[in-house]
Amino acid sequence: MRILSIETSCDETAISIVNVVGDFPNATYEIAGNALHSQIDIHAEFGGVFPKVAKREHALALVPMLISALTEAELLEEGLTFVRDEEAEKIRVLLEREDGLAAFLLDFLEKNNLPEIDLIAVTSGPGLEPALWVGISFAKALAAVLKCPVVPVNHMEGHILASLYNVVEDDRVAQIIFPAVALLISGGHTELILMSDWIKYEKIGQTRDDAIGEAFDKVARLMGLPYPGGPEIGKLAAIARTRNLPPYKDRLPRPMITTDDFDFSFSGLKTAVRYSVEGETLTDDNKQALARDFEDAVTDVLIKKTHKAAEKYGIESLIVGGGVSASVFIRHSLTTHFLAHFPDCEVYFPNPGLSTDNSIMIALAGHAQMTTARTAGAIPLIRAEGNRSL
Ligand code: KG4
Ligand code: ZN
Repeated sequence: MRILSIETSCDETAISIVNVVGDFPNATYEIAGNALHSQIDIHAEFGGVFPKVAKREHALALVPMLISALTEAELLEEGLTFVRDEEAEKIRVLLEREDGLAAFLLDFLEKNNLPEIDLIAVTSGPGLEPALWVGISFAKALAAVLKCPVVPVNHMEGHILASLYNVVEDDRVAQIIFPAVALLISGGHTELILMSDWIKYEKIGQTRDDAIGEAFDKVARLMGLPYPGGPEIGKLAAIARTRNLPPYKDRLPRPMITTDDFDFSFSGLKTAVRYSVEGETLTDDNKQALARDFEDAVTDVLIKKTHKAAEKYGIESLIVGGGVSASVFIRHSLTTHFLAHFPDCEVYFPNPGLSTDNSIMIALAGHAQMTTARTAGAIPLIRAEGNRSL
């Protein structure tokens, strides 16, 4: 089957065409086309993501991403997609609030033949609601023409499956042993999810305030570093480690490291950084030292809480996913820790390019959740759920 997947939950506009052979979780997933437009440059100016700006940018980027994914998949054919008057009207109504998207799509359909698609998978949450709605409305509009079902996907399930998908070797999702724990660390989330089997998720811990990626981004901003902050802090921290620089001022706190639960808190850490830099002009040495201490602090907490979860639930697999899992230091630290303390537990990280938001992961999760797909009459019921939980 051929899946068209759409991701617009935050600041990436992404569309993929994935050819699937077999049933989940034993299928192969061939990425025929994969297009992604990052809004990072726009949001960098403001130091963070503004929902209204993100929404407008998604509306501008969706049709170009569709063209790009179809072209890569060699499925774009000049011609005319036959759109009945009532379908065109439906598209206009669905995309009425989406900054010109109806006109872009109708124009595209006038010039191109749409290929056969068996399923549309679209992120319905969690994420920024105005941004999610653009993708959802676009999915509904396409479904009206393609006459195919739509499956609303949980973005976090996408991150979990992205970490298990081996695009480098066999195009398959790893056959993991349960129980497993997923440590999801991204710009919007910090969660520990227990999996007793495929598709069975139980949230056992989460952040009580800021997400870890948000903390990276805010701390970077306090230090005068560009958005997104994670990679910037990572680079400086790596230099500090090779130079063996001690912490800048007092060592930063490790929030909630000793609490008897699986929750996290990062806003205090951010405040501690704010106090230490307030009124100061940071030298390069100061920045490196601070970046290292910050990255060490969050890593210590992640390791401690994940260790506790591994012990309590006797896990056989650890899945680490989300944008922050791109961090070389966090990867290395978690891997060495688990090798030393849980040598039988397999640790999974996303392949390159699949840590941060993408639409391949939405195709994977859409296929996993195919039984929940909605057909014509039920498609209008699909809604954006900003706080959708696993
Ligand atoms: O998963 P993601 O792309 O978007 C959300 O769903 O939130 O995660 C984005 C977050 C940003 O906060 C960014 O600073 C962080 O991931 N990030 C990193 C690295 N690359 C991206 N954090 C630490 N180290 C990195 N190398
Ligand atoms: Zn994400």
